[in-house]
Amino acid sequence: MHNDVRTMEIEFTLDGQTVCCPEGLTVAGAMFHLGRRSVRMTARTAAPRSLFCGIGVCCDCLMQIDERASIRACMTLVQPGMRVVSGQGAATVALEA
Ligand code: FES
Repeated sequence: MHNDVRTMEIEFTLDGQTVCCPEGLTVAGAMFHLGRRSVRMTARTAAPRSLFCGIGVCCDCLMQIDERASIRACMTLVQPGMRVVSGQGAATVALEA
């Protein structure tokens, strides 16, 4: 049986560079798909951070997405034209009302 599942590629920017990933990935999944393991650097030591929980609990994966700071990459689906920037320095977590 032939598997005719087609995957659409989505184009977005990562740290200013145009990149592509299959549709349906989270931003964190796209980072891994592209071979990147670090999503941000810590404020004090500039140590690279990656996913920890992968389910939106730990906030280790905070990135800037479409000019919004501190967005959880593991909980955000990649959208065409999305602008993703690696997190730098101290993160702030917006409290949802
Ligand atoms: S990896 Fe924990 S919130 Fe994203």
